Amino acid sequence: MLGALTTVVLAFAASGSALMPHHGAHTRRHNNAGRAVSYVPRSSSYKLVKEYAGQSFFDGWNFFTGADPTNGLVKFVGKDDDAKLAYVQDDGTVVLAVDQSDNLVNGKRKSIRITTDDSFDRGLFVADIYSMPHGCSVWPAYWSLGAGADWPNGGEIDIIEGVNEQLQNQITLHSGADCTLDKAADALSNKLGLTCTSSNGNNAGCAYQQKENNTFGHLFNMQAGGVYAHTLESDGISVWFFDRDAIPSDLAAKTPDPSGWGTPTAYFPNTDCDIAAKFKKQQLIFDITLCGDWAGAAYSQSSCPGTCADAVANASNFDVAQWKIASVRVYQ
Ligand SMILES: *[C@@H]1O[C@H](CO)[C@@H](O)[C@H](O)[C@H]1NC(C)=O
Ligand SMILES: *[C@@H]1O[C@H](CO)[C@@H](O)[C@H](O)[C@H]1NC(C)=O
Repeated sequence: MLGALTTVVLAFAASGSALMPHHGAHTRRHNNAGRAVSYVPRSSSYKLVKEYAGQSFFDGWNFFTGADPTNGLVKFVGKDDDAKLAYVQDDGTVVLAVDQSDNLVNGKRKSIRITTDDSFDRGLFVADIYSMPHGCSVWPAYWSLGAGADWPNGGEIDIIEGVNEQLQNQITLHSGADCTLDKAADALSNKLGLTCTSSNGNNAGCAYQQKENNTFGHLFNMQAGGVYAHTLESDGISVWFFDRDAIPSDLAAKTPDPSGWGTPTAYFPNTDCDIAAKFKKQQLIFDITLCGDWAGAAYSQSSCPGTCADAVANASNFDVAQWKIASVRVYQ
């Protein structure tokens, strides 16, 4: 997701399918060169400070109902809208959906974008997700944005993001000036770009793409999802993805100890970026937009038929365009 406008991830779109691990050879070369910057386990003293789950989930979130800053063909609505797109099931599962009716508003379909009331300057963030939106025109994101600063100067952390029928999740940072992803950072995913510093005209950010096809979209949902856990600390930002059947027991027990989780899925050390200065108090966000700066721009490289606007008009594309969330927990 991008905090602001314009010609997004065209660098990726132009170089072909977002499925391609562009920098595999590049990563191997650096590993062989010997210098690797590895995740340094922190002392495990994380305590639960906030839990968003079950029937009270929405108490801690604000519904954004303004125009989509990324130019999607969506009309963001509140919880009380007739379309009933945000609710908690009887079993406690939180659902965020796209309208599946034929009622478009000026070619735009109703959808949801929610932001936590609280902001967090550091900590461990754990999102347990059963299924995520995907499909032609669909651009979902679970991300965070620095509160009270003009984009990108508060920093933006994109944990789950992708478009159309993408299979491999992309993890991206956007920041103000002087912030680079160290090319020697040791992580399980492929590096896409190293320049975290972003602006309206140049906003690809520094990013990783995961290697496995079950990290985004259909195959993620087929295994009942999993857990994305990330830490924001002055020494770096680290992200781990755990399949549903491989969630560490300490995480399940709410006594998380990242020092036992091994090499992160994505790792952004502070070696070439002052993480504490560039990533201010973050508010968590879930949204689903359609077309717009990324899904729209990349649509012609997807296997989806017609135009992106055609896909938005076809209600049957949105049966699976839903977030189903077990919980989001914050530890400090
Ligand atoms: C991931 O999906 C792509 C496209 O369907 C396929 O070519 C590739 O073999 C898959 N990779 C794995 C590891 O299954
Ligand atoms: C609408 O989308 C569905 C698949 O999501 C497709 O099977 C169908 O052909 C589409 N209808 C039109 C009119 O494009």
